[in-house]
Amino acid sequence: MFRFSRIHLSFLLFVCSTCLTAGFSVEEQLHQLRENYVELKNNLGSKVVQLEAKVVQLEEKVQHQESLLIALQSQQPISSKSVSAIGQPSGKIYVLRTCRETRAADPSLGSGMYWIDPDGQGVGDDPIYVYCNMASGSTEILHDTESKTDVGNCADPGCYSKAINYNATMRQIMALAELSNECHQSIRYDCISAPLEINGITYSWWNDRNGNPQYFWSGSNSSVHTCQCGIDRNCVESPAVKCNCDSGLPTLLADNGVIAVKNLLPITRLNFGRTILDVSSGQYTLGRLECSGHVAVTGMPKSCEDLWWIGHTLTGLYSVMGRAMVENVYCDFTKLPSDAGFEKWMGFADVQSVPTYFLVTKNSEEFNSTNIPIPFSTAKLNIGGAMDLSSGKFTAPRTGTYFFSFTGMIGYPTLSSSVMVLGIGIYLNGIPIGYSWSDEANTVVTQEVPLVLQSTVNLQAGDQVWLQIDRLSTGVILYQVPAFNGWLLQENLSQSL
Ligand SMILES: *[C@@H]1O[C@H](CO)[C@@H](O)[C@H](O)[C@H]1NC(C)=O
Ligand SMILES: *[C@@H]1O[C@H](CO)[C@@H](O)[C@H](O)[C@H]1NC(C)=O
Ligand SMILES: *[C@@H]1O[C@H](CO)[C@@H](O)[C@H](O)[C@H]1NC(C)=O
Ligand SMILES: *[C@@H]1O[C@H](CO)[C@@H](O)[C@H](O)[C@H]1NC(C)=O
Repeated sequence: MFRFSRIHLSFLLFVCSTCLTAGFSVEEQLHQLRENYVELKNNLGSKVVQLEAKVVQLEEKVQHQESLLIALQSQQPISSKSVSAIGQPSGKIYVLRTCRETRAADPSLGSGMYWIDPDGQGVGDDPIYVYCNMASGSTEILHDTESKTDVGNCADPGCYSKAINYNATMRQIMALAELSNECHQSIRYDCISAPLEINGITYSWWNDRNGNPQYFWSGSNSSVHTCQCGIDRNCVESPAVKCNCDSGLPTLLADNGVIAVKNLLPITRLNFGRTILDVSSGQYTLGRLECSGHVAVTGMPKSCEDLWWIGHTLTGLYSVMGRAMVENVYCDFTKLPSDAGFEKWMGFADVQSVPTYFLVTKNSEEFNSTNIPIPFSTAKLNIGGAMDLSSGKFTAPRTGTYFFSFTGMIGYPTLSSSVMVLGIGIYLNGIPIGYSWSDEANTVVTQEVPLVLQSTVNLQAGDQVWLQIDRLSTGVILYQVPAFNGWLLQENLSQSL
């Protein structure tokens, strides 16, 4: 009993002490808990509502992306149409042919990865993703073997062989090279007793864009086996070898070169061998294909290739400057300039940038002044205004080929037995370039003879042409509405531009 009481008492004391310290009754605590629960439930409820709204938003986003994806897939191949879907890192939509053009379009762009389309937007292959060095304006095409690579140990020529895969089609690479002034690719070989070539045996080479083996590891002379030290004549065993690695010294050496023949690049395969010795080691580092500069077309385009360089990509008929005149050419821009059928000449079109033709006549019945340009009084036509009636001189407005024709009637004195003549010359800058005359004897009453003079002549702009009587017998006259006409047949554009 005593024990129980103690326990009971201590329980009561415990309860009491709790009640006293909290200052609440059990009912009050329960009430508090209920309130807490309701508040928690409300909070949870609004959180759930928020989450549900987020899920709806996400679902909408996914749907939007799916529709974008479908739109993208339906536009195969990716062309200018889907350029907006590609975008550029700057958020701006430039898919130009080279980094250089991209930079020109927006000088504020920084170096980085960009989409370009060297073979032209909307034709040929899809745009490619390249590194643009905006400081130099050069385009760099990435490949899958950019880090330093060990060739291992093997004996035979080319026993190590690695294909290099570029992140661009060969067509796009060739188009980029065509558009660029220069392209180059660096190649470094770190070697210990790993000659590229020794004792007349070639162990290492690279393959060019056509798959052909090449043995020059720097420069642009494809007909020699050399490295940069061979060009600079400072190889470790110069002049016996043209590459440091070829020396065969059992020390770490390196050949560091830049290959700069844009029509052979890029390196499509690297082949190494003779790394058999225990000490032998060969490690190569192949740079990206870098192209910069551009082929400038100055003056008038002379071919489909010129048009392509300027940026034309729509296949069709174009007018270009031929050898001496504007000609029509069919350009198939689905092909590259080096492809067969890229260009087809269709013949020339006559060109007169200034319409020039005239027909002038003389009203006065008789004319017999010699050694002066024959003046005219009426212009039936004088398009281009090149013919000056009062001076009788025609001034060529453009360099080109002109045609002139004169007809007139010569009147002879009645009943004359002696030979009489009237000769007319066509003069170019004071020098006769053609004659026509008529002579008669034993003339009868109203004896008349027609006189015709024609000439086709190449003139420089500013040249002057006129007619003058330079042979005349007394009494002979020119009369009956003589007519002088002429026109520009074809302008010589290569001259006038
Ligand atoms: C390679 O090009 C493709 C498009 O042709 C691009 O999606 C990809 O990101 C590029 N890869 C690298 C490493 O730049
Ligand atoms: C290339 O090298 C060979 C051999 O040294 C030389 O005969 C030739 O002229 C060089 N070609 C060019 C374009 O430099
Ligand atoms: C030219 O014609 C005029 C008038 O008809 C005449 O007087 C003159 O003698 C002629 N001159 C010549 C060289 O025939
Ligand atoms: C055009 O000019 C060139 C260059 O002077 C010349 O060779 C050619 O014969 C000229 N052609 C014509 C039609 O005048």
